Amino acid sequence: MRSARYLLALGLAAALACMPAMPARASSSIEVWKSATCDCCNAWVSHLEANGFAVKANNTGVAILEKLRQQAGVPSRLAGCHSGKVEGYLIEGHVPASDIKRLLAEKPDAIGLTVPGMPIGSPGMEQGDIVEPYDVLLIKKDGSTEVFARH
Ligand code: CU
Ligand code: CU
Repeated sequence: MRSARYLLALGLAAALACMPAMPARASSSIEVWKSATCDCCNAWVSHLEANGFAVKANNTGVAILEKLRQQAGVPSRLAGCHSGKVEGYLIEGHVPASDIKRLLAEKPDAIGLTVPGMPIGSPGMEQGDIVEPYDVLLIKKDGSTEVFARH
């Protein structure tokens, strides 16, 4: 028991000791499909960039977005106004960068995250002080969802 704890402490110390020598985790690249004329999509892209993501943005139409969702297995009822792909996950709608980072750290067996609709106060949807509570949903492989984060 004691030695296990000792080893754990040793491992932790080693991990901590390593940290300064290791480069910070390279920023994740996310590819985004959005409408050219949608301000809230552009604002969401800026939010991601401000939080360290390298964004490749493509302007596209609703038909392509629908196709992307279909290919990924995301039902239309979970649709947001834009789609992103990062490390094999689909990110749909105004998902906060912090939740995407948590997703990439935890790597759950899932399709991705969505904020269906466009709740006011979510990243890219700021309107002064107005904040609509909203949930970020984890989309599971079977199309079902569970709450990933509440905001
Ligand atoms: Cu939007
Ligand atoms: Cu959008």
